[in-house]
Amino acid sequence: MDLIVTHIGADFDALASLVAAKKIYPKALAVLAGSPDKDVREYLYKKPHLIDLKKEKEVDFKKVKRLIVVDTRLAKRIGEAKEALNNRGLILHFYDHHPRTKGDLVGAVDIGGRYGATATILVELIKKKRIKISTEEATLLALGIYEDTGSFTFPSTTPADLKAASYLITKGANLNMVSDFIRRELTKNQVKLLNKLLRLEKRIKINGIEIAIIKLKSSGYITDLVATVHRLRDIENLETIFVLLETKERIRIVARSRIKAVNVGKITQAFGGGGHATAASATIRGMELREVEKKLIEVLKSKVTPEIAPDESLLFKKNVGSLLNRNLPSKITSLLAEAGRIAEEKNFRVYLVGGFVRDLLLGVENFDVDLVVEGDGISFARYLVRRAGGKVTAHKRFGTAVATLPGGIKVDIVTARKEFYEFPAALPTVKEGSLREDLYRRDFTINAMAVRLNPKHYGELVDFFGGWKDLKERIVKVLHNESFIEDPTRIFRAIRFQGRYGFSMDRNTERLVKDALRLKIFRRLSKQRLREEIIAILSEPQPKNAILRLDKFRILKLIHPKIRLSQEIKKDLQIVKTIFSRFASLLKEEDGKRWIVHFLILVQKLSILEVKNLCNNFRLSREQSRKIVKGKENLREIIKKLKESELKPSFLYRTLQGLPVEALLFIVLKVRNRLIEKRVYQYLTKMRKVRIRTTGDKLKKMGYKQGPLFKKILQELLWAKLDGIVKSPSSETKFVFDNFPKD
Ligand code: CTP
Repeated sequence: MDLIVTHIGADFDALASLVAAKKIYPKALAVLAGSPDKDVREYLYKKPHLIDLKKEKEVDFKKVKRLIVVDTRLAKRIGEAKEALNNRGLILHFYDHHPRTKGDLVGAVDIGGRYGATATILVELIKKKRIKISTEEATLLALGIYEDTGSFTFPSTTPADLKAASYLITKGANLNMVSDFIRRELTKNQVKLLNKLLRLEKRIKINGIEIAIIKLKSSGYITDLVATVHRLRDIENLETIFVLLETKERIRIVARSRIKAVNVGKITQAFGGGGHATAASATIRGMELREVEKKLIEVLKSKVTPEIAPDESLLFKKNVGSLLNRNLPSKITSLLAEAGRIAEEKNFRVYLVGGFVRDLLLGVENFDVDLVVEGDGISFARYLVRRAGGKVTAHKRFGTAVATLPGGIKVDIVTARKEFYEFPAALPTVKEGSLREDLYRRDFTINAMAVRLNPKHYGELVDFFGGWKDLKERIVKVLHNESFIEDPTRIFRAIRFQGRYGFSMDRNTERLVKDALRLKIFRRLSKQRLREEIIAILSEPQPKNAILRLDKFRILKLIHPKIRLSQEIKKDLQIVKTIFSRFASLLKEEDGKRWIVHFLILVQKLSILEVKNLCNNFRLSREQSRKIVKGKENLREIIKKLKESELKPSFLYRTLQGLPVEALLFIVLKVRNRLIEKRVYQYLTKMRKVRIRTTGDKLKKMGYKQGPLFKKILQELLWAKLDGIVKSPSSETKFVFDNFPKD
C-alpha cells in the first residue's frame, strides 16, 4: 500500500501538497495526521469532496510499502504514520521545501531545494507530467503557495513560486477564495501572545543594525508561536528578530531576518542549529536563558555586517521656494529667510517640517511654523529672537524651544537628534543626529517632508519617504509599521487628515490600524490624550467623514458604547455646516467651539446622566461640561416654546437666557425651521445686548428699599423694554412707579 502523509497541524501548503501528491500517486491513500490548522479545517469543511482523506485509525500502517511525505522530513512530525517507518523494505519519497536539518530522514526520491512552498515543487511535477487539475485543486495549491510565501513577500520566495502561481491561475485558481483565506485576522490566542511578545521585546543595536530580541519562558508548547512572531515582525516592521523560548529543559531560538547583514542561518549554527539566511532555529540544552542571550549578542557582534543606508538616493529634489514667497504672508516669508541666514552664520542647518510643509504643498493656510535644526535648536531659537524680537521658552531636556515673535507668530523649534539604546537596559545615548532620523520618527509620509531654509538651498524640498507622491495620490501612509504602536493617537490623526483632505489610507496603514485596535491599543492611552484627539477631530470644520471612519473602526464606541451613527445623526452632521456658516461671525465673537456642537450631535440620544458621566470620564473642564449639559437640559421644552406662533420678545429672551452659543446652534439644528433660526439669531445679535437705564442707585433715589425686590423690578423692566413697552429713561421710571406701587 502507498500512503501519503504530511506534518501534524497541517497548514494550507501541507494540505495542498497532500492533494497534489495524490494526483501524482493516484492509488495511494492520503491521511491527515492529528488536527490541522484552524483555517485548513474550515476549508475542508467547506470542500468535503476535494480529497478522500483517511483518518489515522482507518489505516493499517504496518501494510505501508511506500510512504510519500510532503512538507516535512522529520519523523516526529508525521503522527502515527511513524509506525510505518519500521516496516521492512519501506520506500520513502519526500517532497519538502524546508532546508535540511539534522534529524531529517532521507528518501529514495527526495525533492527539495529553493522553493518558498512545497506546493510549488508539486505543481512543477504536475505540469511536467501534464496531469490535469480542477479549478478547485488549482485554488488550493495557490493558497498553499500564497500562504507560505506571505503572498510572495517573504524573502524565501523564489521565481519558481511565482511561476507555479501563474500556472495555477491559468488553470482557473480563484484568487478571491485565496484572499479570503489568506487575509485572516489574528485569533484571540495570537492577540494575547502578540501582546506578550510586544511587552517582552527589546531592541539592541549592533554595528548600526537594529535587532529585536524576545526572551520568554513557558512550561509547555506555545501554539502559534512562529505565526505570531511573523505577525509581530510585520506589525513592528522588524528586520531581524530572535525569540529565545525556554521550556522545561531546553531553549529554542527562532530567528528571522529580512536583511543581508544578518544571516540567521549562520548565527544559529553557532548554537548547533541552522536553516536559511532568512529563517532559522536552534535548540540548546544545559544553558540558562541569560547565558544564551549573552552568547547571542557576542555572535551577533562578530557576524553582523553593517549596512550603509542609501539616504541620498531617496531624496526627491524639488524647489518650493516660489510657493513660500507666493502663498505666505510677508511676515512669515521674511522670518523664514532670516532663520536661514542665522543658521548659515552659526553653521547649523534649518528646515521647515511637518504640517506646515504639507499644507504649503496643498495650498492650505497654516501658519504654525515648525522648524528642525541640525545643530543646537535652543541656541538657534535665542539667536532668532535676538534678531526678530519676542521671547523663547526652552526645554533643555528635549532640545526644543518655542519662539514667540512679535505679531503673535509662534515658531516651534526642535533639535534633530537620535537616541538609541546600546543595550536593552541602558540609558539612551543621545547624539546629534540628522534630519532624516527626525523625519523618520514622524507619523505619516505626508507629514515627514522638510524644506531647506539655508540661503544656498532655500526652498529645496527634502522628501525621503515619498510624501510628495502620497500627497498627489491623496494617501495617508505610515512611515513604518510600528507607528501606531509607538503612538496610538496617530490613529486619530490618520482619520482626521483623511477626513480633512478627503484622502484615504493605504492598505497597509489600514491593516495596521486594525491590528493596533485589536490589540486594544487605546488602553495604553490616557483619557486626557484620548479626549484631546476626539476634540481635534470634532473641531474640524467638517468632521462627518472622519466620524464615519471612527464608526467603521468601532472607535466611536470607545467614546460611549451607546453612540450609534443613526441616519438622523449623519444628517445633522451634514446640515450643521450650513448653520455654522450662517452663524460664523457670532461663533467667532463668542469664541464658540464647533466641537461642542458636533459632540452634542453625537450624544443626542444619551440621557443627561450618561452625558454627565461621559464628561467626567473624559475629564472635560467645568466650562466644557457646562456647555454640553446646557445643550441637553430641557431641550424639548425649549424647542416647544420657540415654536409658539405668537412669541413675545421677553418670552424668547427668558427661554434662551443663559444658554451658551453652542447649545443655541444645536437647537437651531434640531428644529430646522427658518423662523426659529431667525428668532435665535435675533436673540444672539440684538436682545442679549439690550440694557435698561435704570440702576439700583436710581431705584434707591426713587424711594425703593434695597432688597430682593430690586432684582425683580430690574428684570421686569428689561422685559418691558424688550417688548417695546418702555423706551426712554422717563418711560422706565413711569413703568416702575405704575407696576411697583410703594406702600
Ligand atoms: N507628529 C507625529 N506624531 C504625532 C503628532 C505629530 O509624528 N502624534 C509630527 C508630524 O510630523 C506633524 C508634526 O509632528 O506634522 C506637527 O504636529 P501637529 O502640529 O500636531 O500637527 P500638524 O501635522 O501640523 O496638523 P494640524 O494641521 O492638525 O495642526
